[in-house]
Amino acid sequence: MAKRPARQFACRACGAVYSKWMGQCEACGEWNTLEEIVVEPLAASSPRASSKGRRVKLEGLEGMAAPPPRIRTGIEELDRVLGGGLVPASVVLVGGDPGIGKSTLLLQAACKLAAKSERVLYISGEEAVDQIRLRALRLGVGQATLDLAASINVADIVATLEAEPDVRVVVIDSIQTMWLETVESAPGSVSQVRACAFELIRLAKRKGFSLILVGHVTKEGALAGPRVLEHMVDAVMYFEGDRGHQFRILRAAKNRFGATDEIGVFAMTDRGLEEVSNPSALFLAERRGNIAGSAVFAGLEGTRPVLLEVQALLAPKSGENAPRRAVVGWDSSRLSMLLAVLETRCGVKLSGMDVYLNVAGGLKVAEPAADLAVAAALISAATGMPTSSGEVYFGEVGLSGEVRQVSQADARLKEAAKLGFDKAVLPRRIARGSARSKPPEGLTLREIGHLSDLVTADMEAE
Ligand code: TYD
Ligand code: MG
Repeated sequence: MAKRPARQFACRACGAVYSKWMGQCEACGEWNTLEEIVVEPLAASSPRASSKGRRVKLEGLEGMAAPPPRIRTGIEELDRVLGGGLVPASVVLVGGDPGIGKSTLLLQAACKLAAKSERVLYISGEEAVDQIRLRALRLGVGQATLDLAASINVADIVATLEAEPDVRVVVIDSIQTMWLETVESAPGSVSQVRACAFELIRLAKRKGFSLILVGHVTKEGALAGPRVLEHMVDAVMYFEGDRGHQFRILRAAKNRFGATDEIGVFAMTDRGLEEVSNPSALFLAERRGNIAGSAVFAGLEGTRPVLLEVQALLAPKSGENAPRRAVVGWDSSRLSMLLAVLETRCGVKLSGMDVYLNVAGGLKVAEPAADLAVAAALISAATGMPTSSGEVYFGEVGLSGEVRQVSQADARLKEAAKLGFDKAVLPRRIARGSARSKPPEGLTLREIGHLSDLVTADMEAE
C-alpha cells in the first residue's frame, strides 16, 4: 500500500523543518512562520523507488584541470566581496530588505559585464521590461547590450536558458516571485522558493553560467526569506544599510570561493550606487571635534581598515527603573561587560546612568578590538572631556581591565595616518616576538596595558 506522504512544516524565516505545526519556530524564535511544505513521497510502488541506482564514478583528488577564470564584474567593491569575481557555474544569493538597492546593484553589475561583451541575462519577476530600461537609462547604463526578460515562470525561463548559447551570467530578480507549475503552493512560499531555486541552480551547474538570485529579507508576511536557500547556494551576500543613510554595505555571510569577512561599501545616489573606495573618510565626514563622548575606532572589515566614530551618551536614569542600555551598531552584552569593567576595575561610576552607544554611519561592528574605543567614548562622556580629535583607538579589553593585542595593528595605524590622525592609543606590546614595524610618519603611539591608564590620564588632564 502506498504510504501517505508525511506532513512537514518549514519556517519561512530560517528554513528549519518540523514534523508538526508550532506557533513559534524553535530554531529562530519567530512566531507564525511555519508553513506546510510539499514532500514528495517515495512510495514503495513508485517506479523511482524500485529502480536500482547506477554506480557513480569514483575519482582521485589529483588531476584537476585549471579552474576557469573568474568573471569580474568591474565593480571593485562587489568583486572583492565575491572573493575576486563571479565563479562560473556558481550560485550567489543576494539578500536584503526591500528597497535597499539590490536590483540597482545587480542591474549596474549586469550592464558593466555586458559592456565587456559577456552574455548576461537579467530576468525580472517584479518589473516590466520597460521599467528596467527606464532604470538603466537613469543609471546611465542604458546603452549596454543586456538581454532583459520579464517572467515569473521557471519552466519558461529554464527552456529559454537551455536554448540560449554562451550565457555567462544570469540574474533572477527575485526568487520570491518565481513560480513552478508543478508545485502546489503560492509564489513566495517555502516550497515554491526552494523548488524554483533548485531548478535554476541545477541548470546553472549543468550549463556553466553564474547564477545570481535576489532574495528579499522579509520581517513578517507570507514570503519565505533568503535564509531558506542559504544551504543550497555557493555564496550568500547581504546588502544592508539604513534607508535613512546613504551608505549601503554588501557583506558575505557564506562564500565557498572566498573569505566571508569582506565588505563592499556603496553610496546610494540619484544616479545609482557609487563605489566608496575610501569608507573611512565617508564614515568620519560628519564628525565634530571637541565633543565629549566621541572616540574614533581604527577597525578592520575583512582585509580593509576602516575608521569609525563611536559615540556614547550618559544621562541620569529616571526613577526606580533599571538603567537603560541602548546600543546601535555594537553588541549590547559587550557593552554591559565594558561598563562593569570600568566600574569595578577603574572606579568610573556609571551604574546610576542610562547609557546610549552608537556607531555613527550605520555600520555594525563585530570586532572586540572596538572595546578600547568604546571605553574611551564612555570615559569621555563620564568626565565631560572630549578625546583629542586627532586620536584613534583600538584594543580588546579583558575582564580584569587588561588591554589585549588585536590583529593587524600596522594596517590600522597606516589607515589612521593616511586620514591625518596624529596619535593612536593601542595595546602595549608584549615583550619580544611581536615586533611592530615603525609607526607611520606623523603618528605617535601611546601603548597602554590597562584600561585604568586611560582613565587616570583623562582625569589628570582635567
Ligand atoms: P531597488 O534597487 O529597487 O531596491 P531592491 O531591489 O532592493 O528592492 O532600490 C530602490 C531604492 O533605491 C528606491 O527607494 C530609490 C533608490 N534609488 C536611488 O536613490 N537612486 C537610483 O538611481 C535608483 C535606481 C534607486
Ligand atoms: Mg528589486
